[in-house]
Amino acid sequence: MRIVIKKDPKEVGQWVAEYVIRKIKKANPTKEKPFVLGLPTGSSPLTAYQELIRRHKSGDISFKNVVTFNMDEYVGLPEDHPESYHYFMYENLFNHIDIPQENIHILNGNAKDLEKECKEYEKRIEKFGGVDLFLGGIGPDGHIAFNEPGSSLSSRTRLKTLSYDTILANSRFFDNDISKVPTTALTVGVGTVMDAREVLIIITGYGKARALRQVVEGGISHMWTVSMIQMHQKAIMVCDDPATMELQVETVRYFKDIEEIAAKRIPKRDE
Ligand code: GLP
Repeated sequence: MRIVIKKDPKEVGQWVAEYVIRKIKKANPTKEKPFVLGLPTGSSPLTAYQELIRRHKSGDISFKNVVTFNMDEYVGLPEDHPESYHYFMYENLFNHIDIPQENIHILNGNAKDLEKECKEYEKRIEKFGGVDLFLGGIGPDGHIAFNEPGSSLSSRTRLKTLSYDTILANSRFFDNDISKVPTTALTVGVGTVMDAREVLIIITGYGKARALRQVVEGGISHMWTVSMIQMHQKAIMVCDDPATMELQVETVRYFKDIEEIAAKRIPKRDE
């Protein structure tokens, strides 16, 4: 696992956006063979989305041949509800870039048959040959997408009941009223994320420090579902300084050193 530590969310966003752009350009995608990008919602990816929009507007990157799959969506929230993940994605990214509407995939939390919706989502990902790069955030309890503590580490897209911790954390978007937060969601599974050719997790703020410690220094555990990325062959965690506050000094030094040495030897790592 590679851990990149930046000063603040702005630098994290710039780094992530640059990485995504480089990957898309390197893949040289076409309509027939698009680049498949997995996307999260939440505050963590916001600076990266802002930077992607800026770079798109400056003519640096086109998303015409990019296909996206979002991680999750609440059940029962209308798509035009300001807190739905549909609304979030259009507002914060899709409305500002040139991605064709038909390339966007977000789970439908209002589908009549939710189980069928989840199964078909997996099939759609498969049809596109799998996800090239899955971006993600994590909850303060170390969950990825809505794979709450105790989720199977080989889970697939499905309906999940949200934990009290998550409902509480997300109530900030619902007038701080936990009774307004949906209690169920559709989410890709840990296994779905793990199948991506690359996984990049964004972790910012002191509120995530405990989770980062578990994921980096602890073992793999279904109680911190994102810890499964220890098994992934190509995983990157991009964090800011406050998120590393609970890591051992030695761990931080170790990963910073590796990045510094690699940057000197291979200036454009991964190209
Ligand atoms: C929700 C989402 C996750 C996201 C998490 C953290 O629970 N389902 O995908 O990673 O929130 O959100 P934030 O980045 O706002 O802290």
